[in-house]
Amino acid sequence: MTTVLAVTNQKGGVGKTTTAINIAYYLAKSGRKTLLIDFDPQGNATSGIGIQKSELEHGTMSDVMLETRQLSHIILDTKYKNLQVAPTISQLANTEAELGSLSRRFTRLKNAISITSGFDVVVIDCPPSLSLLTVNALIAARYVLLPVQTEFYALEGLGQLLETMKLIRKNMNPTLDLLGVLPTMVDSRTTLSQQVYDEIKKHFPGKVLNTAIPRNIRLAEAPSHGAPIGVYDRFSKGARAYKAVTKEIIERMGL
Ligand SMILES: Nc1ncnc2c1ncn2[C@@H]1O[C@H](COP(=O)(O)OP(=O)(O)O)[C@@H](O)[C@H]1O
Ligand SMILES: [Mg+2]
Repeated sequence: MTTVLAVTNQKGGVGKTTTAINIAYYLAKSGRKTLLIDFDPQGNATSGIGIQKSELEHGTMSDVMLETRQLSHIILDTKYKNLQVAPTISQLANTEAELGSLSRRFTRLKNAISITSGFDVVVIDCPPSLSLLTVNALIAARYVLLPVQTEFYALEGLGQLLETMKLIRKNMNPTLDLLGVLPTMVDSRTTLSQQVYDEIKKHFPGKVLNTAIPRNIRLAEAPSHGAPIGVYDRFSKGARAYKAVTKEIIERMGL
């Protein structure tokens, strides 16, 4: 059984990719065979985990979505034990447009994952939109992890995401569940950050994870070294937080 977790929020810059990379890393480190699917045409998870453009000759998620290659064929090893990645390049944006007129366009990711064996967990890094790609991710996933940046307007637009999840639950994927809301870039020194944190808790009772991710420069530096925080600076505040969050997620998913 593979558990599929989509890291989603249609807002950009809230910490989705940072969360997907680092949670995937710590899941793998805990011994779970983990696949990180980069599903954002920006390809930040691909480069952030240390994959170079020159390594993509086996194909990317574009090929998987167009069904010209199987997911298992494009998967690459990372430098980290138990962690593999399904890479993406900007071409995925064109692929998405193309998909719009193709059959089974909503269930292609689900199908691709379902015929791929050997993974305990699949983590999907979603694009910053409620697009066809995100819908594919929500149909493929058992759980959604929602990173929310503790900034003004943090909750804006989330109603729309919850509405989309409800529709998908009703029509395509009855077991889709919001696993947790993860406050990101929390700055304990600012009252705004604290206020928004409290507001998020009020808005999602019982759903906010106990661990919040602090604003931490080491987390922002790590991707340019192609490394998860647990490798780049494993004693940083950011590393400790993502390690703790992963533990909570494992418990919530019952893995
Ligand atoms: N906790 C954090 N502290 C400091 N910078 C962060 C943190 N989380 C993410 N960042 C940085 O903020 C930017 C946006 O994060 P990213 O994970 O790419 O968001 P998204 O995938 O939602 O667009 C990136 O430059 C990233 O390195
Ligand atoms: Mg991203």
